[in-house]
Amino acid sequence: MNLTRTASRPLRGLRLALAGAGRVGLSLVAWAQAAGGRAVAVGTRSEASRQRAAQVLGAERVTPLEELTSADTDLLLVAVGDPVLDAVAVTLALRAQAPIVLHVAGSRDASALAPLAAGGVHTGSLHPLRAFPRPLLDPTAGQGIVFATDGDAPAVDLAWQLATAFGGTPVAVPAAQRRLYHFAATLAAGGVVTLLATAAELVRALELDPAVERGYLELARGAVEAAAAAPEPTAAITGPVARGDRDLVFRQLEALAQTLPALTPLARELALQTLRLLLASGPPSAPQREAQRALFVELAATRGNHELP
Ligand SMILES: NC(=O)c1ccc[n+]([C@@H]2O[C@H](COP(=O)([O-])OP(=O)(O)OC[C@H]3O[C@@H](n4cnc5c(N)ncnc54)[C@H](OP(=O)(O)O)[C@@H]3O)[C@@H](O)[C@H]2O)c1
Repeated sequence: MNLTRTASRPLRGLRLALAGAGRVGLSLVAWAQAAGGRAVAVGTRSEASRQRAAQVLGAERVTPLEELTSADTDLLLVAVGDPVLDAVAVTLALRAQAPIVLHVAGSRDASALAPLAAGGVHTGSLHPLRAFPRPLLDPTAGQGIVFATDGDAPAVDLAWQLATAFGGTPVAVPAAQRRLYHFAATLAAGGVVTLLATAAELVRALELDPAVERGYLELARGAVEAAAAAPEPTAAITGPVARGDRDLVFRQLEALAQTLPALTPLARELALQTLRLLLASGPPSAPQREAQRALFVELAATRGNHELP
């Protein structure tokens, strides 16, 4: 690999191949091209995705995935869906591939590419910590993203070069931490959306004006912004549980039990987690701390668990 780096084209000279031309694959290769890289070969499943890859990336070779060879490139990026990653690694290993192969799955470490590593290829991962609801081809979309990496030294080195060239922040997430790193990512994204959808479910159960749903979305936007601006998210927690307002919390739980009883375990566990975080963090005013501790004990007793942080 002979990269001639300049500040504006840090990946100049990098020859890329892509396996799986979907939302993430198209985006990352488009960003790499904007940074001076060149898409040489793409292997993907359907005719429609081959046509789109040819149009969007202008790659020299676009083939069915099982015909992809990339020995004439510096990097093969594997961006197929998680359920087929193992099978695709086996398929790719049947042909000569680039000296470095990176996958983009958050839930898997470099060992997902073991069949390729067995053939002497350097393997690793480069997981962009952001949602791609569609291909995000504008390279500015890469700016500010945290990229989780792991793998052997040459693979990690190239993964960090890519993340940096995209304007992102590369971080090491070793194999042992991978599973819960990905779980936390689903809490931060899907978990937040599930809570919003639950608030919307209550709007419908109470037959409120649907505009209230939009109001909750705006409320959430403000709360996420406050959490991002705070020194750490716990400092931005507000509401009756955080205030230790015992009477209001229990009145709300009673009302919930009458309207949507299936939600009461979730509401109680969320309140307990809020209190656990607050009690473990910096010292709030003494009266509030006592109210929080008392509320924790009372709520925990309703599920037979008296454990205090
Ligand atoms: N989407 C996100 O928000 C996001 C964020 C970070 C990381 N990721 C990771 O990125 C990877 C790709 O996700 P994506 O969202 O880009 O998926 P996607 O849009 O569904 O794209 C997957 C691509 O792989 C192709 N493919 C090739 N061989 C395949 C096979 N045997 N079976 C199924 N598909 C095959 C698909 O072809 P067809 O077009 O013909 O179906 C499709 O183009 C996953 O590991 C995912 O975890 C996703």
